[in-house]
Amino acid sequence: MADQAERLRAIVQGQRDMYTGRRQGASRIIVVASGKGGVGKTNLVVNMALTMGQLGYKTMVLDADLGMANVDILLDLKPVYTLIDVMCGDKELRDVILHGPCNLEVLPGGSCIPEIINLDSRQREQLIARLSYLEEEMDILFVDCSAGISRNVVTFISAADELVLITTPEPTAITDVYSVIKVVDKYCRHANIGLIVNMVSSAQEGEQIFQRIARVCHNFLKLELIYLGSVNFDQHVQKAVIDRSPYVLRYPRSPAARATQQIARHLLGVDKPNIATGKENKFLKRLMQMWAGQAGEH
Ligand SMILES: Nc1ncnc2c1ncn2[C@@H]1O[C@H](COP(=O)(O)OP(=O)(O)OP(=O)(O)O)[C@@H](O)[C@H]1O
Ligand SMILES: [Mg+2]
Repeated sequence: MADQAERLRAIVQGQRDMYTGRRQGASRIIVVASGKGGVGKTNLVVNMALTMGQLGYKTMVLDADLGMANVDILLDLKPVYTLIDVMCGDKELRDVILHGPCNLEVLPGGSCIPEIINLDSRQREQLIARLSYLEEEMDILFVDCSAGISRNVVTFISAADELVLITTPEPTAITDVYSVIKVVDKYCRHANIGLIVNMVSSAQEGEQIFQRIARVCHNFLKLELIYLGSVNFDQHVQKAVIDRSPYVLRYPRSPAARATQQIARHLLGVDKPNIATGKENKFLKRLMQMWAGQAGEH
């Protein structure tokens, strides 16, 4: 209990680690994915990231939804370049990053992943150097993935080790999220998996759905899911989307905003993230290695 209180204080005060100078809980990469599309990933990512920004964390969202990138739409930002321009060597990261409210930064992904495969080792090193800003300066990097479990999504999950899955109470969304968990279990056994149930009619409904999925995971996969919470179906979310103004800012006292803030705090309070931060295991380096591995398979 005392530990938890201390941790919360550290979070609220945004304390920095006395050895590294980084904020506590720094350098976390949180990949957000789902089985079914349209379950609220992008809205949750943007609003959780803003909440963390309000708490003093330097937060970035990597829009990795290669098909339909729309983090920028929710924040009413106009991307000019994408990560692909950094990879081609034409642009510096600072030319590509978009600046949102609460110090939130957005990195439009573009269709970067196929491109990276063709880089030679010198170009790849150069790119790592360019992207090292992310690990040096960012406290939290959210990766907003496309729905379903493509190879790209698996790549991100294996590199980050921390995965947040979103489902809704719809039976199809539940079935699809379980399919994602099975794939993650197969290819990224070590991943830390949290679940958010979005668009519920009550907190109780969220918990029941979590229990159902968690039981199946426990019985059939011997895998323990972490419950991060639920968000009610709330028209404020839709209104905020139409206004292009995130609901935690536009309607901070709405049920969806309160629930999202609570989930963001829960994520920050989670014990040490399961992310390897050692030099050799840096996220980007691992990501590069994995992409390089994919290139080898072609
Ligand atoms: N809690 C909620 N209450 C009501 N509507 C919601 C809620 N969460 C999301 N929505 C609505 O659901 C729609 C889809 O949301 P969003 O784009 O965030 O989903 P997504 O999972 O990112 O979709 P995609 O798979 O296409 O990337 C949006 O129009 C949004 O307004
Ligand atoms: Mg989305």
